[in-house]
Amino acid sequence: MRLVFVGPPGAGKGTQAKVVCAKWGIPQISTGDMLRSAKADGKLPAELVAKMAAGALVPDSVVIGLIDERTQAPDCKAGFLLDGFPRTVPQAKALAETLAKRGQKLDVVVALEVPRELLIERAVLRRTDKRTGQIYHLKYSPPPPGAELEHRADDHEEVVRKRLDTYEAMTAELLPFYAELGILKRVDAVGSIGEVTERVLDALGSK
Ligand code: AP5
Repeated sequence: MRLVFVGPPGAGKGTQAKVVCAKWGIPQISTGDMLRSAKADGKLPAELVAKMAAGALVPDSVVIGLIDERTQAPDCKAGFLLDGFPRTVPQAKALAETLAKRGQKLDVVVALEVPRELLIERAVLRRTDKRTGQIYHLKYSPPPPGAELEHRADDHEEVVRKRLDTYEAMTAELLPFYAELGILKRVDAVGSIGEVTERVLDALGSK
């Protein structure tokens, strides 16, 4: 199964992706995580660090290259879940071309839908355990004692607002693109994490 999770910052893509990937034994591939990891290793060019810090997208060519390489790894043979890629129609077209060259295609694109006013709180109070990558929320999914928590540099309110603006501007054409291909499933992502998981699995026909 080759899946894409689309949704605004804080919609729960990473949270739900971890559940689906554990259930199906496929890798979660997050371009945001890949970029943050390159930054932590000092390998992300300064202009891209600045773009992420400002809540802007990095150039299509950068993420297309990352995904092209990553999806050829042996652990992607049985499928994969792309979390946060594609975000633009050029990225979606490049992905379709890459997969077509390998005789593959996407099966489902899940769009997680959450109203803007809920997203700010979700992102600003997010914390991630830097040892395990587990995502927590200080109010809705509190971390256990002893977790080594990180607060993402782009999770401060003014940057989250910019990321939401960027999402709305850049992805306005992406959902119609996938709707036209007949592979888009819209999921109401308001509710508890468990309730949203049920809806996601339902949309994927895997309850
Ligand atoms: P990226 O890392 O992809 O960030 P994002 O898309 O903004 O998404 P988030 O990680 O913020 O949110 P999420 O939907 O995964 O939510 P989560 O599950 O963590 O991208 C970061 C940056 O990298 C971009 O701004 C851009 O610069 C660059 N980039 C990445 N991909 C790119 C691309 N393709 N093209 C160009 N640039 C790219 O949940 C959020 C919080 O809410 C957590 O605390 C969680 O515990 C909580 N939560 C989740 N679900 C619920 C629920 N149902 N109820 C209550 N709380 C919940």
